[in-house]
Amino acid sequence: MLTEYHCHILPGIDDGAGDTGQSVAMAEMMKAQGVERLIATPHFYAHREKGVEAFLEKRKAAYELIKDSLPFSEVHLGAEIAIEHGISELSGIEKLAVEGTRIILLELPYAPYARWMSEEIHNIATEYKLRVMLAHVHRYLEYYSKEEMETILSANAIMQINNEAFRSWKEKRLVKRIISGHECFAFGSDAHNTSTRKPNWDMLQKKAKTEDIARSDEMFEEYRTE
Ligand SMILES: [Fe+2]
Repeated sequence: MLTEYHCHILPGIDDGAGDTGQSVAMAEMMKAQGVERLIATPHFYAHREKGVEAFLEKRKAAYELIKDSLPFSEVHLGAEIAIEHGISELSGIEKLAVEGTRIILLELPYAPYARWMSEEIHNIATEYKLRVMLAHVHRYLEYYSKEEMETILSANAIMQINNEAFRSWKEKRLVKRIISGHECFAFGSDAHNTSTRKPNWDMLQKKAKTEDIARSDEMFEEYRTE
């Protein structure tokens, strides 16, 4: 079941789909490209939100607007949580895990690596017995030294790969390493709209091996809780 692990399809909640029309247009594109299971992951920036509960209410309201128009077999709500110093201590953070699973999607800051980032990842995983998924790890090549990237890759986490990584020679090299060396990785479009950052599963299916896409899809079942 082709699984979209990372996208900004909920309307009016972040810098993704601006309204229901765009959400539904994104969904139609994904469906045409073969997506059957969707995980919606709006951005969560702790310092901008009024708290986890308020965010969950906002997310629910956005989902209600489009849920009857989504053409997927399964939809799960999650979040893309920006890793900030102290994020692991945020009250209720575990509720941002992908519904019906033990997966929680975390996004490293676009900044040089610091030790506390690994500590936050570790704390969230151990405190709540969650499986951390690290968003688009290949995007940090310009920020991290080789050793720092090794540290991140050796974190006990699912490495999430944006489909567009296959377009960049440098990023593709890292992605191939992840695929050959990691038991857990997950593809996502990280789509935000239908133009500049659109669903790109057609491209992934041309560039990636069928068996690797299947591994990403099947991984979901390992962490399902209901
Ligand atoms: Fe994202």
